[in-house]
Amino acid sequence: MKIGTKAIHAGETSTTTTGSIKTPIYQTSTYVQSSPGDHEGYEYSRTGNPTRNALEKTLASLENGKHGICFASGMAAIDSIIKILSPGDEVISTNDLYGGTYRIFIDIFDRFGIKFHFIGMENPNNIAKLINENTKMIWAETPTNPMLNIIDIHSLGKIAVKHNLIFVVDNTFATPYLQRPLDLGANIVIHSLTKYMGGHSDVVMGAVVCKDDILSEKLYSIQNTCGAIPGPQDSFLILRGIRTLHLRMQRHCENGKIVADFLKNHPKIDSVYWPGFKSHPNHEIAKRQMDDFGGMISFTLKGNKLEDAKKVSSSMKFFTLAESLGGVESLICHPASMTHAAIPREERQKTGTVDSLIRLSVGVEDIDDLISDLNKTLDLL
Ligand SMILES: Cc1ncc(COP(=O)(O)O)c(C=O)c1O
Repeated sequence: MKIGTKAIHAGETSTTTTGSIKTPIYQTSTYVQSSPGDHEGYEYSRTGNPTRNALEKTLASLENGKHGICFASGMAAIDSIIKILSPGDEVISTNDLYGGTYRIFIDIFDRFGIKFHFIGMENPNNIAKLINENTKMIWAETPTNPMLNIIDIHSLGKIAVKHNLIFVVDNTFATPYLQRPLDLGANIVIHSLTKYMGGHSDVVMGAVVCKDDILSEKLYSIQNTCGAIPGPQDSFLILRGIRTLHLRMQRHCENGKIVADFLKNHPKIDSVYWPGFKSHPNHEIAKRQMDDFGGMISFTLKGNKLEDAKKVSSSMKFFTLAESLGGVESLICHPASMTHAAIPREERQKTGTVDSLIRLSVGVEDIDDLISDLNKTLDLL
């Protein structure tokens, strides 16, 4: 199956009892056993639920993986992956990443004796000098949030194999429509399903996908033991969102390109960060590992003034000022004071998250309305 067919058919089972064309919402906490241990495959909904399982199978198929494991949020998925590790272990992470990921690494897991190194991964050679006998994991986001840097998944995969490291890729920005990290050498893919996968800004959920049976056993065990599972109603909503993933992503990419070109040529804009530009430092890698360039764009304003960034982000009509991304509606965000406020200012500035940086999640509205909205707002400066 190709991606559009998988988005609609993979993982779903029609019920034999009613013939319902889609997996129903199994709103149940437990399952009848005819004698102790004798059941139809389900015992308790923390351990397994048919609606959640349909979603998990769909995700595994979309990412060309074998096992999908869903969690109550993207953060719960990240939490579960780090729980594979033990005190004394070290993780090498990209330095440009979602603020909440940075926060869980530093505020939570650092206290439990796991050490995190943050480094720019645009050049994979940067990683080698940080690897020692305690290193267990490489953590990458690509494209990165919010600077839209591109990390070469294939090259990092080779480093991970050479040093026997678990290589994790956060595929939230790209989705499997644009990029399938497991095919390129990643061991684990993590998603905030809250974003493009759900696509309608109405559910918070996360997932992990992998091929390896031993890794998946550990992750299923953490899912069941720690219990950060999503409910069946939310699993149903994500399944429904996924059925149009390919259509939405196509439009996000088309609109994203037009908005990126518009911003690049606007006199009030300083820099525009979007991997589809030939001038993007890793454009050639983006072309190799992605099928298109997505609808996430960051930009800075001439003069780099915080007041100007606040004015722009709060004056738009169709780009709603809100955290999150990847929904059908366009969103605008000021990373320094919103999504990335958890990262200390000096650290943020080093990676480019300066005071006037604005991040757009370009939605699937009519592009003329989006451009006119941007034009009118930038005229206020
Ligand atoms: C790249 C990325 N990863 C993970 C997360 C966390 O996901 P959630 O908000 O579903 O917990 C986010 C949230 O914004 C994100 O942008």
